[in-house]
Amino acid sequence: MDIFVIQGGRPLQGTVRTAGAKNSCLPMLAAALLTEETLELENVPDLSDVRSMLGILEVLGAKVERSGTSVALRTEPSAQPVAPWDLVRKMRASFEVFGPLLGRRGRAEVSYPGGCSIGVRPVDAHIRGFEALGAIVRTREGYVVAEAPPGGLPGGEAYLATSSGSSVGATRNVMMAAVLARGRSVLSCAACEPEVVDLANCLNAMGAKVHGAGSPTIEIEGVEALHGARHAVVPDRIEAGTYVVAGAITGGRVRVEACRPEHLTALLDALYRAGVGLERGRDWIETQPRDPRERLRPTDITTQPYPGFPTDLQAQWMALMALADGVSVITERIFPDRYMHLAEILRLGARIRRQETAAVVEGVPALSGASIMASDLRASAALVLAGLVAQGQTKVHRVYHIDRGYERIEERLSALGASIWREPDTDSPPL
Ligand code: EPU
Repeated sequence: MDIFVIQGGRPLQGTVRTAGAKNSCLPMLAAALLTEETLELENVPDLSDVRSMLGILEVLGAKVERSGTSVALRTEPSAQPVAPWDLVRKMRASFEVFGPLLGRRGRAEVSYPGGCSIGVRPVDAHIRGFEALGAIVRTREGYVVAEAPPGGLPGGEAYLATSSGSSVGATRNVMMAAVLARGRSVLSCAACEPEVVDLANCLNAMGAKVHGAGSPTIEIEGVEALHGARHAVVPDRIEAGTYVVAGAITGGRVRVEACRPEHLTALLDALYRAGVGLERGRDWIETQPRDPRERLRPTDITTQPYPGFPTDLQAQWMALMALADGVSVITERIFPDRYMHLAEILRLGARIRRQETAAVVEGVPALSGASIMASDLRASAALVLAGLVAQGQTKVHRVYHIDRGYERIEERLSALGASIWREPDTDSPPL
């Protein structure tokens, strides 16, 4: 296991390019199971989650060729449509092979993904959706097993609401099952996230007929077969947002290029309210330098489904507000227990208390470096951001979490002038 060592206190300056979106790319790779022809994806980020998904797809019969940021996949449908626990447990997104397997092969057997450090994360909405399309679904020995009637799924009307609104994963999974159904399907209370739209665009390039993605109602006309296609993955709005917050927290001038500012409206609005100077163009955002003595205004946020403030930027926002000039309230409406980073940020001298699903952040004038532990992907990003401004040295342990979703973050931050490097962990703190 590696750690990041960060020497805090340097304002960042320079340009960083956004990679393709992890959360768009993972289900899109699974969409290769829907055709026997080649699906070629461009702008695929180099992440450990992508490697995990490619490993699962190989078990399911995919031949994978990777060159730079493109990945070509071609699937032989001979392998068993079974995704085992030892692979699925590593990454929840692997449950999204379910829809393609069920849609094309008429049968799928995928291990329950289980919970993780951000919460319980059930899959009931996925299962309700498959049932609405006409599958018989049951649970057997820790696996979700689904079968389509002879001749394939008929299609149907699926209502995908969850306690927090919609489900990104269920919308994509059920959409992928529906594209090869015999008839028409309607997904209501569908998630509107850009990653859902990107997947729909990719499926349509493969010959699917998906209409309305990006709205709460998606209509899908089933087609007989999908064909090969080439598609470029949308830029990662969460990675881009994290670098924008890196600019804001250090008071530096960071220009984030190759991003889609319109996918980050809620974050940009919160940054304006906090007093961060910003410039933006069609595909870039730039933070404006700020005197380090000038503190930001405390600014409340509530995480919500898109286009609301993304839960995947909540931890980063907490790091920013930890230094604001007053009290701000962060309310988590998507994953009410997604607060593993809170205790670690406290170790840097922040003043934050949890109140049910909210965190009350009392900004302090400065943080001071310490050894802290990453618990999940976005939590680790927040700890790195806090380390960039903490006085002295911060050591972030268990950075494999961050490698799941950020391409070589330490190299990119170093290129922006941060003092951060990776080392093998010789003294991992106890759990
Ligand atoms: N939910 C249910 N039942 C379900 C599915 C979800 O109750 O069957 C609930 C969840 O418990 C949660 C809410 O619905 O309260 C939203 O969950 P969703 O299904 O939308 O999340 P997901 O698809 O599992 C994706 C991203 C997450 C991101 C969430 C929310 C991928 C691979 N993952 O997860 O990304 O936080 O949407 O936007 O797309 C990350 O990148 O760090 C990450 C965790």
